[in-house]
Amino acid sequence: MSHPPRAEELATFLETLRTRAGKPSLRQIADAAGDISHDTVRAALNASRLVSLQAAHSIIRGLGGDTADHQYATRLLSTPSPGTGTIHATIADDDLIGRGPEWTVLGRAVAATAGGAGGCLVLTGPAGIGKSHLARAAARAGARGGLTVAYRAAIEVDRNAPLISLAAALSDCDPPTSKLAWLREETPVQSTPERIGRELENLAAERPLLVIIDDAQWMDEFSVLAVRTLVPRLAFHAVRWLFVRRPGPGGAAMDALDDLVTMGAEEITVGPLADADVELLCARRVGAPVDATVLAQAERCGGNPLWIMQLLAGTVTRSRSSTTCCARSSTTRSRRRCATACTARSRRSPV
Ligand SMILES: Nc1ncnc2c1ncn2[C@@H]1O[C@H](COP(=O)(O)OP(=O)(O)OP(=O)(O)O)[C@@H](O)[C@H]1O
Ligand SMILES: [Mg+2]
Repeated sequence: MSHPPRAEELATFLETLRTRAGKPSLRQIADAAGDISHDTVRAALNASRLVSLQAAHSIIRGLGGDTADHQYATRLLSTPSPGTGTIHATIADDDLIGRGPEWTVLGRAVAATAGGAGGCLVLTGPAGIGKSHLARAAARAGARGGLTVAYRAAIEVDRNAPLISLAAALSDCDPPTSKLAWLREETPVQSTPERIGRELENLAAERPLLVIIDDAQWMDEFSVLAVRTLVPRLAFHAVRWLFVRRPGPGGAAMDALDDLVTMGAEEITVGPLADADVELLCARRVGAPVDATVLAQAERCGGNPLWIMQLLAGTVTRSRSSTTCCARSSTTRSRRRCATACTARSRRSPV
């Protein structure tokens, strides 16, 4: 039987740890780990199947492994090999135009989470550039891959309600879970992050979890505090965090996100859409190929999808109203004159 190469690699690594630990039996390893069956230990050491990252961490714990050993396993199992895993970075999202490099990182992270690996990503970019659009694509990919997805777009007034940014995301996750329903009712206290941590560990053991906080620059301070504790604590569990933010002046949330990046969270900077993707966005929005005049106007939007959409909304409105006013003209000659005037006006209009 042929085994996935990473199962072999993991088995070799675990065998090294086993030798270092004095060759304990499979049952002794399972007993020392405490939360894993003897069969899973055998599968991992024989490479008969690729065990989850969580199972690998349990075995490493049972073998007395240190932080570096855990990190090695995380790296090994976080890189999906072609043909394995539930989701692949190459999976297209119908709604997403362009964004190949950003989607590669996001898609891989979601796939790795489906395979049991946790971690944290920070998506940074200016207003209207398409951050939320990417985050929603990640949420859809997560749902397709069997992850529990928790999503919240923070708003400025979150700052007045302790824990609202995180509690609203988690208590409203999909599929819903009774494990986190208490977050909706209980007032947060000092031990709340610890309790959330325990619940998320349990939840992730059953089903990997993707937590997305959009507009994270507006997270309330209690959520910021919880995130500072929970992200490192859950690094070895199947919990993936995705924080989306606009760059801007510091504050508790921005400082925490900067610290997470310093500690190893991957930051994806979202820049302008490529020219070819701008053309595609215009065509999709208008419902037909667009001409050079529209493209020249779209160029002035600097690859910002929101500005392009606004431009096109204006263009569509103008062309509709010009069609109506031209059609209202009574003679063919006056209709032509009106059309010429409307075209000239639309060319003169600023974006
Ligand atoms: N890659 C894309 N493909 C198709 N549509 C896109 C793409 N990126 C962005 N859009 C569309 O452009 C608009 C602006 O994008 P979005 O809301 O994601 O921006 P944002 O970066 O989250 O902005 P903000 O900082 O204001 O929240 C939305 O209508 C979105 O659907
Ligand atoms: Mg947004």
